[in-house]
Amino acid sequence: MRKFLIAGNWKMNKNSDEAQSLASEIAQTLGRQHEVDVVICPPFTSLESAARAIESSGVKLGAQNMHPERSGAFTGEISAEMLRHLFATYVLVGHSERRVQFAESDEFINRKVLAALNSRLKPILCIGETLEEREADKAFEVVGNQLKAGLANVPADLADLVIVAYEPVWAIGTGKTATPDQAQEIHQFIREELKNLFGDAQADRTRILYGGSMNPGNAEELLKQVDIDGGLIGGASLEARSFLQLVEIASGLSQ
Ligand code: PGA
Repeated sequence: MRKFLIAGNWKMNKNSDEAQSLASEIAQTLGRQHEVDVVICPPFTSLESAARAIESSGVKLGAQNMHPERSGAFTGEISAEMLRHLFATYVLVGHSERRVQFAESDEFINRKVLAALNSRLKPILCIGETLEEREADKAFEVVGNQLKAGLANVPADLADLVIVAYEPVWAIGTGKTATPDQAQEIHQFIREELKNLFGDAQADRTRILYGGSMNPGNAEELLKQVDIDGGLIGGASLEARSFLQLVEIASGLSQ
């Protein structure tokens, strides 16, 4: 039985004070609940204040990006070790906004996944097709290729740290969600591909999150699908109320 994971991707929102108050509200309400894994991913500048706010709770900290190298002349970049130093334990890798707006290639994303694993950060590898690709009947091909490229050379003994997030690009921030059937069909395909990569037992343990306009109104139907193991939440993670409602829905389905 896979434990649900609800992760908030705050994107470029919340300065360090705002992050501290949102993180505190989440942490205080959830305390040490352990039915659902809960992760918040503030921007780099707010990691420290958010880390302090969730310190004595079960809420975990994630970053939204990282550079694959450990240190050096990479102006504006942040390494996995720097994230660990601020108590981050998760990192988003390959979000479509980075693939599209910052021209990140599958190869570069794969280097980040490997570097994250090397530092024992849990990478949340984001994959998903555009509307154009879906309409051209290429959703499975695109998702399969991004998955295989992103996870190339992941050692079997570290595969347990990997989390996958299926985020159809056309559903991100648009208010358009994949239907539960559309999402389940791709999640099931991802799990089959994970079986080919890591074997059945590991694939059965790996969490596959859905992302793209998930909110308290549509989460239950999505999370009820057998291969949907949680959510990567953008817009609805920016307010404690809606984010906490999502955790509550996941928690209700865990009973
Ligand atoms: P959204 O974003 O929930 O606002 O659609 C999800 C994401 O980009 O991770």
